[in-house]
Amino acid sequence: MTAPTDDLFALSERYYVPVYRPRRIVLDRGVGSRLWDTDGREYVDFGAGIAVNALGHAHPALVAALTEQAGKLWHTSNVFVSEPPMRLAEELVTASRFAERAFFCNSGAEANEAAIKLARRYATDQGRPPERRVILSFRGSFHGRTLAAVTATAQPKYHEGFEPLPPGFRYSDFNDLAAAEQAMAGGDVCAVLVEPVQGEGGVTPATPAFLAGLRALCDRHGALLVLDEIQCGMGRTGALFACHGYRVEPDVVTLAKALGSGFPIGAMLVGPKAAQTMQFGAHGTTFGGNPLAAAVARAALRELSSEALRANVQRQAQALRDALAALDAEFGLFDEVRGRGLMIGAQLRAEHAGKAAEILDHCVAHGLLLLQAGPDVLRFVPALNLTDADVADGVARLRAALLDYARR
Ligand SMILES: Cc1ncc(COP(=O)(O)O)c(C=O)c1O
Repeated sequence: MTAPTDDLFALSERYYVPVYRPRRIVLDRGVGSRLWDTDGREYVDFGAGIAVNALGHAHPALVAALTEQAGKLWHTSNVFVSEPPMRLAEELVTASRFAERAFFCNSGAEANEAAIKLARRYATDQGRPPERRVILSFRGSFHGRTLAAVTATAQPKYHEGFEPLPPGFRYSDFNDLAAAEQAMAGGDVCAVLVEPVQGEGGVTPATPAFLAGLRALCDRHGALLVLDEIQCGMGRTGALFACHGYRVEPDVVTLAKALGSGFPIGAMLVGPKAAQTMQFGAHGTTFGGNPLAAAVARAALRELSSEALRANVQRQAQALRDALAALDAEFGLFDEVRGRGLMIGAQLRAEHAGKAAEILDHCVAHGLLLLQAGPDVLRFVPALNLTDADVADGVARLRAALLDYARR
């Protein structure tokens, strides 16, 4: 028997550290891009657990991989080796087309934390003193909530009250190559950390010239180019790795979210320049590359690498964009619809500024789970295997929600 919604919210309010403000529904089960709450109400899922459930809910290949591994071996620690993480490392390195080595952890923040440590150690090996081991990141970015990752996150709202922040971080404007050049002019930057498509900051793709320019700047200054593909990687942009679509070769890529497609796992992939940087004892984590997580990620990687899935990303992205254009013609809501593949942001016009959360409330009432990216952007990051019917139903529910919003 499932507990009534009010009871569960009472427990949440009484016992949980109140850092979240979830909407007042209790999700119970899911299949594909549909979810049901404990009252049996159906939702179309355009948020996919914040760009995580890239293969939808209860995908048979993932369920099979998880249950098979669950009956075999759950955990070994990295004091011993098991098959799933070693196979996953080989498969990810091969699929990446740039990496030589992989390191596994449990989340996106941890993957970026590993990359930041690797960049600092790489600079140390170059003989750079601590003050010349600066990490450059970009305004509007999001890299996670651990202390170093949140410091790299160039948004003051995530920093306030957590000072002192670790030193050695610098910020520059996203998509402004001249500003990055200036920020690196002193030669003290050891790594540039950048999302090919900024997610939380508003769903903003890097321009190809910006990413290519950062590559050139890193080469000029002996710095590592670290791409945070935690949200935009694993097929979301229409290429398995976002950097493949940009034709930019990174030194490090961080992954999480869709890598486990719902099972927690993060990864840092390292190219030839820094593949030898982290040696015995330099870093580690108890759960990283856990056989359960790695078995699921292997199955997810196989599915996410399929041509058919890639074609579906293009098809449904176009369908969603066409639908958003039609809704905009009807409601006059959006300044811009932007993104890459199935990572789409609809920027609200000035007169609707700050209303994304209110629109999402109307969406929930009409059976649609959607995300925001800041107060002014509706964010669409559905499963990559969503169907024509999922898009049609989701868009119909969005239209109903917007009618309510317009009538408010
Ligand atoms: C681009 C990016 N990097 C890092 C993170 C942090 O990942 P996690 O929440 O798994 O620590 C996120 C999460 O939203 C993200 O979108």
